[in-house]
Amino acid sequence: AAPTRYEAEASPAVCSGSVDSNWSGYSGTGFCNGSNSTSGYAQFTVNASAAGTATVGVRFANGTSTARPANLVVNGSTVQTPSFEGTGAWSTWVTKTLTVSVNAGSNTIRLNPTTSNGLPNVDFLDV
Ligand code: GCU
Repeated sequence: AAPTRYEAEASPAVCSGSVDSNWSGYSGTGFCNGSNSTSGYAQFTVNASAAGTATVGVRFANGTSTARPANLVVNGSTVQTPSFEGTGAWSTWVTKTLTVSVNAGSNTIRLNPTTSNGLPNVDFLDV
């Protein structure tokens, strides 16, 4: 089935930082600019029709030349730590595709940055 898009700036997503719209190319009405610290997270509540493996596309921009890794926390457990490398500009958005196990129904998917640089800017999740 086609993925469902979950915008980072829109409830039920939670952005620990600011919702900004100053860099072009985002989807929806803006993006999550998490604070530049390990506590600047982006959290999504996503629905899965069945338990099993889900493909999660994370659209992000990182205008620095330093990767911004983050723990991918699914329903409270860290399942992997993707690296969100530099994309060349804050207005250059890239979708990183991850594979995770989900429960049937509601799931919490959260990105917790592992460095004090915080998260890249996060536009949406496609699940
Ligand atoms: C800049 C940029 C922000 C970005 C921030 C960061 O301030 O304008 O969009 O979030 O850098 O380093 O995270």
